[in-house]
Amino acid sequence: MTNTSEGTPDPAPRRYFGTGLGEIVLGDSKETLKGHDDRSVDLIVTSPPFGLVRKKDYGNVEANRYTEWFKPFAKEFKRVLKENGSLVIDIGGAWNKGYPTRNLYHFKLLVMLCEEFGFHLAQDFYWWNPSKLPTPAEWVTVRRIRTKDAVNTVWWLSPTPWPRACNRRVLQPYSPSMRDLFEKGYKAQKRPSGHDISDKFGLNNGAAIPPNLISISNTESNSYYLRYCKDKGLKPHPARFPAELPEFFIRMLSDPGDLVIDPFAGSCVTGEVCERLNRKWICIELLRDYCEAALGRFERKTGDLAKSTSSPNDPSKYYRAPKPGLLWESETEGVLPEDGGKSRPASVGSGKKRLEQSRQGAPSGCPQVSNTPIAAKSKE
Ligand SMILES: C[S@@+](CC[C@H](N)C(=O)[O-])C[C@H]1O[C@@H](n2cnc3c(N)ncnc32)[C@H](O)[C@@H]1O
Repeated sequence: MTNTSEGTPDPAPRRYFGTGLGEIVLGDSKETLKGHDDRSVDLIVTSPPFGLVRKKDYGNVEANRYTEWFKPFAKEFKRVLKENGSLVIDIGGAWNKGYPTRNLYHFKLLVMLCEEFGFHLAQDFYWWNPSKLPTPAEWVTVRRIRTKDAVNTVWWLSPTPWPRACNRRVLQPYSPSMRDLFEKGYKAQKRPSGHDISDKFGLNNGAAIPPNLISISNTESNSYYLRYCKDKGLKPHPARFPAELPEFFIRMLSDPGDLVIDPFAGSCVTGEVCERLNRKWICIELLRDYCEAALGRFERKTGDLAKSTSSPNDPSKYYRAPKPGLLWESETEGVLPEDGGKSRPASVGSGKKRLEQSRQGAPSGCPQVSNTPIAAKSKE
């Protein structure tokens, strides 16, 4: 068990709170799950503590021993899941300490779950958080030798290759170019890739099938949960996922009345979503302080849990990602640092000064290039 600054875990799992549909269990999920029957759970959707090379305060696990740590959980997940159920794991990557290189722990976890525990990788998803900060600053904003890490992997696994699923539950609005195409009419033709696109492609089905890239900014700042924590003097969970993330999978992979479990529940976002979508749920969390704060998600009547209304025509509900190349020069400027940015430029200061310098384009690991858009330049 992990001791963290948020408190000491209680030894025996116990029901902490319940609604007609679900419950929060305070305890260790690998112990709690032992009390569940084989093949009794429809969906496990969760975000475990990430593997980190430095400890955060919610019980993260050292990346290099992550798969060992995960094994007892994996064993219980496999046992309690129904044959046609699903396991969805949102897991972020980690940087190796002192190096601008990535740790492989989340890929090793995936390989272990498939090769040792017999899960199938139904699909790999990528959660893009457009509001992610450009970290680690040393590699990204100071030496400029890596780009912003803004994507979490989400592994969708299943005991068989045929888990229950339906993508019609998670459709999204057509893109402007697709709508344009419907208006102008589509001519069936061969794509440059050689794919023969039939005229069925031009059929307007009312909505588009989403890709495996899920775009959600994680910028909750004024939710009921946060206000509840503030009013009660409780610390909000520091690593919450946005409700739309579990909701995507709960909709696509379970029916109303199914049982959904989040074994690393944190602030119990999964429970709140299930309550709204009429799924049975169990949220298991090791630390009492997080369970205490999670009560704020269920204090309102179920009707009040309704999602805030959103219109597909509201532009603020879309993220725009620029196509690469908008600021690229025809010629590459400067030369790449021969040592790959290993030596830190002497003139780069520390902390605030460093950030300021990097904003102003002070010398760093990679040469400064002009950021003036080509179009603007040509007017000079
Ligand atoms: C990344 S957080 C989950 C956050 C959650 N998805 C949310 O949005 O609030 C992982 C959580 O797992 C909890 N945890 C760690 N080990 C656990 C265990 N053995 N059993 C239950 N919970 C555990 C941690 O206390 C932490 O709150």
